Amino acid sequence: MEKSSEYRFIKACRGEPVDKTPVWFMRQAGRYMKVYRDLKKKYTFLELCKNPELACEVTLQPLDVLGVDAAIIFADILLPLEPMGTGLEFSAGDGPVIPRPVRDRKAVEKLMQVNVEEQLGFVADAIRLVRKEINIPLVGFAGAPFTLCSYMVEGGKSRDFATTKMMMYEATDVWEQLMDKVCTVLVDYLKMQVSAGAQALQIFDSWVGCLGPSDYEKYILPYSRRVYEGLKDTGVPVINFSTGTSTMLDLVQKAGGDVLSFDWRIQMDSARALLGKDQPVQGNLDPVMLFAPLPVIRERVHDILKRAGGRGHIFNLGHGILQHTPVEHVKAVVDMVHEYEHE
Ligand code: CP3
Repeated sequence: MEKSSEYRFIKACRGEPVDKTPVWFMRQAGRYMKVYRDLKKKYTFLELCKNPELACEVTLQPLDVLGVDAAIIFADILLPLEPMGTGLEFSAGDGPVIPRPVRDRKAVEKLMQVNVEEQLGFVADAIRLVRKEINIPLVGFAGAPFTLCSYMVEGGKSRDFATTKMMMYEATDVWEQLMDKVCTVLVDYLKMQVSAGAQALQIFDSWVGCLGPSDYEKYILPYSRRVYEGLKDTGVPVINFSTGTSTMLDLVQKAGGDVLSFDWRIQMDSARALLGKDQPVQGNLDPVMLFAPLPVIRERVHDILKRAGGRGHIFNLGHGILQHTPVEHVKAVVDMVHEYEHE
């Protein structure tokens, strides 16, 4: 088995030189693949997540087909909510539903401490199984404190996050108590994933872009920072992912993480100028671009690679693969990235 530090994905996370730019995709396992849809005829999404053999199988599905440089464990950012006591359901069409949302002090106080090994050990078991099967690095993950808390407070997906923001503004101490509890679970959960064999971690702050910079700095940054600080002694690179944050990437950077992953609303060269040339970055193709004709995709892929400038760049989308994405286009992007030669 190769040493973790030899992989081009890990090298890029460290800002070291690589032979080719590494590439993988958020949500590279899932509904755009027929093998996954076939499995979904027999099992619910949560059954797939909680059964280590099945989660392992789904994790592996895209790897050989696409030729990516990293795998991501098949799971969901919302899994820790169940042991915390809010419930968790996935209803077709509506996305995730949290049956007992957390909207006041009493509800926050009632949240349970999580024994991650006992209650989320199926994720660790899946990681152990996957590690036996692959010779590319495996990424573990979790939701960021804000994104997780927003699901807990809203009870599901939201357009304006008004309930979450009102808790922040009106009951700041309750918000802080909630964020505090979630941070504790997240650090334990992510450390467990590294102990089980995850060679890198990604923390998804998918919806934090609904906030302006002042709110981010005041209500979110100290907590996100706590999670990144808490993971430093794991020794694995940690990717700080967010969307909609182009106008506050400097603040997001302050929270921590070894790699900053952002969406397509900012050019790679502008982002790198803002963040500093030594800051490794990940991204940032618009997932909708994968539906475009191949020559249009190629032009954009080359543009991103050129603006990123090689060293310390992991090619990825700016957000997850969409449901009806043509698999051949995803595969073609991997080849485009690997064939590209920097000047
Ligand atoms: O990237 C991977 O391949 C690993 C698997 C993965 C899933 N969810 C599988 C999944 C990862 C990394 C996630 C993270 C996740 N989950 C995020 C952060 C990333 C992002 O996209 O912003 C978020 C916000 C969630 C919460 C969540 N889970 C949503 C919004 C949905 C979609 C609901 C729907 O019906 O469209 C899910 C379900 C989910 N998670 C699916 C998959 C493959 C689809 C479930 C199915 O097969 O029906």
